[in-house]
Amino acid sequence: MAETKFDLIILGGGPAGYNAAERAAHGGLKTLVCEERALGGVCLNEGCIPTKTLLYSAKIYDYANHGDKYGVTVEGAKIDHAKVVDRKDKVVKTLVSGVGAKMKGAGVTVANGTAKILGKVAGGFAVECAGVTYEAAKLLICTGSEAIVPPIPGLREAYEAGFVVTNREILDLRTLPKKFVVIGGGVIGLEMASYFNSVGCEVTVIEMLDKIAGPTEKEISSNLEKNYAKKGVKFILGAKVSAVNGKPGSMGVVEYEKDGKTEKVECDLVLVSTGRRARTKGIGLEELGVQMNRGAIVTDETCATSVPGVWAAGDVNGKVMLAHTGYREGEAAVNNMLGKKDRVDYRSIPSVIYTNPEVASVGETLESAQKAGIDAEETTLSLRYSGRYLAENEGGDGFVKIVYGKQHHEILGVHMIGSYASEIIYGAAAMVARCQRVEDVQKIVFPHPTVCEVIREAMFTVH
Ligand code: NAI
Repeated sequence: MAETKFDLIILGGGPAGYNAAERAAHGGLKTLVCEERALGGVCLNEGCIPTKTLLYSAKIYDYANHGDKYGVTVEGAKIDHAKVVDRKDKVVKTLVSGVGAKMKGAGVTVANGTAKILGKVAGGFAVECAGVTYEAAKLLICTGSEAIVPPIPGLREAYEAGFVVTNREILDLRTLPKKFVVIGGGVIGLEMASYFNSVGCEVTVIEMLDKIAGPTEKEISSNLEKNYAKKGVKFILGAKVSAVNGKPGSMGVVEYEKDGKTEKVECDLVLVSTGRRARTKGIGLEELGVQMNRGAIVTDETCATSVPGVWAAGDVNGKVMLAHTGYREGEAAVNNMLGKKDRVDYRSIPSVIYTNPEVASVGETLESAQKAGIDAEETTLSLRYSGRYLAENEGGDGFVKIVYGKQHHEILGVHMIGSYASEIIYGAAAMVARCQRVEDVQKIVFPHPTVCEVIREAMFTVH
């Protein structure tokens, strides 16, 4: 008879759940993870990792096609999309089995099935998964998020027919569209626009707001737009999609309203990337009395919910829907369960858009700082101050922006567009997390020649 009594049951085996499970097991908690699909969640199976695999192939193809400016000419470069997808599947499989091995190694039990909270029992909670009832003193909800398919006429039908896809289905396409339309110019939309543009499809991004990349610092967002417009991506901003009509394998249309006029774009594939919502329905949270806000679980900085003994981490709290936030929240929740006080510092969570050029940010923009009543200033420096950037980015126009407090020069935010930004930003996150001042960073020695040196150099433009 399999074990049914645990110290902790985690609902969801994505980044928040599996990482928390490992930490909890190492902390001495007998832990069960319930997962209905593959371990690794959206991040590993249909998000961060598969998209990065695709984007890396696109980058190699770009280099092959545009190497002449570096004195390298490649004749007859070709991209085999089906092969790219096969490689993506192999990478995902390796990582998913790695997570399984991690769980086994830590002594975590994994149940494959959809978990449902049955309610309170003496000493904790009961959860049903794959026909078995389990009990534990504590619950950690890590059920993640799902793509929103907004109520646009024809969209749901076209999605069900396969003419419209979300981040999930798009990764398994084995043939390329000719004309690709993205609804929603946020992170997912831009990363996929980047891939399909690189591999030769005609790409149109339709965005409701007057800028792409959502909350991204506005000059960076406009620089990114300019870079992609140069590569041939068409951006239709300030436009509201009003209808979608099409069947897979043939041309259909996306209709939109802009400046009081209705226009249409012809396409043979549509990606809907208009945001994600927390997955909280049907798992027994309402019955338990867990407080919600617009479908997401309300948590504090310790990741506790309104019900003692129930914790939540990752996209399900609707706060910062990023895998690395989930990792940290899961850890904080476990630490607090183990009696070690821990709080998530939401001020210093970095975010990255893996386009080419890359965008990476942490902390306040000048606009958000001023909105919060902080007396702030900013300084901007071109990445062309870096010898390495110049050597590797013919015609590149990347830059870094530092936002700091006017009086004390504390670093409030760092925003960057250009090569290696994704790998550099953690250093800036440490500066924001540790409340370092401009003068502190001036005294840190950075390696030379690197692109990150520009961050240090920018500190010397502050007087
Ligand atoms: P998003 O919130 O980043 O962007 C959605 C965009 O769609 C917004 O700009 C919004 O104005 C627009 N929009 C909404 N309704 C629309 C409509 N009817 N017509 C036209 N535009 C419309 O959402 P996205 O891209 O779906 O990403 C979801 C989540 O996944 C985000 O929280 C993101 O942080 C995360 N993610 C993170 C990645 C990374 O860290 N590199 C990569 C991919 C996703």
